[in-house]
Amino acid sequence: MKRFAKLSFAKLTGGVAAMAMVAAFVLPTAAQADDQDVIDYRQHIMKTMDEQTAAVGKIMSYAIPDDNFASHLEAIALAAQTSLSSFKEEVQGGESLPAVWENWADFEERMNKFSDGITAAAKLAREEGKDAALNAAFAALSCKQCHDDYRKK
Ligand code: HEC
Repeated sequence: MKRFAKLSFAKLTGGVAAMAMVAAFVLPTAAQADDQDVIDYRQHIMKTMDEQTAAVGKIMSYAIPDDNFASHLEAIALAAQTSLSSFKEEVQGGESLPAVWENWADFEERMNKFSDGITAAAKLAREEGKDAALNAAFAALSCKQCHDDYRKK
């Protein structure tokens, strides 16, 4: 066991040195990597909402018990609240249409409305249960309306 621990520590420190070397090579091209990072980041948040919405769908279709209904809505709400800031920097590309930044005021309003709606639905689900929150959740999950105007087909 002792030998194993020593070995893995050596491996780990070797790994850190290797990472530092990689960083040194990667840094000069950081400007280009940044744009991809910004796009990846906003897509990660969207994918989070997508997975959680799919989980809600399973519960709404009675395939899965509703124990976690409020938690899934809260996860979507949290992602929705963080989403807007991931679009603030204008980085064209990904599946975003230029309209996101051309019509920023409208995009911002829609994202905030979406975020407020799903946050309210999550609160209702937590406090009063699934049945009380169903309509609010359906109404709030208006993902397609925004995609129609702001996401590439
Ligand atoms: C206010 C606008 C808006 C709302 C609301 C919105 N989206 Fe999006 N979504 C976008 C935009 C813009 C993109 C394109 C992002 C990019 O690739 O640059 C996108 C991309 C995505 C993607 C693709 C991510 C990838 O990996 O390429 C998924 C999946 C997604 N959205 C799911 C959802 C779900 C599910 C909801 C609702 C729960 C939702 N979105 C609500 C604007 C929105």
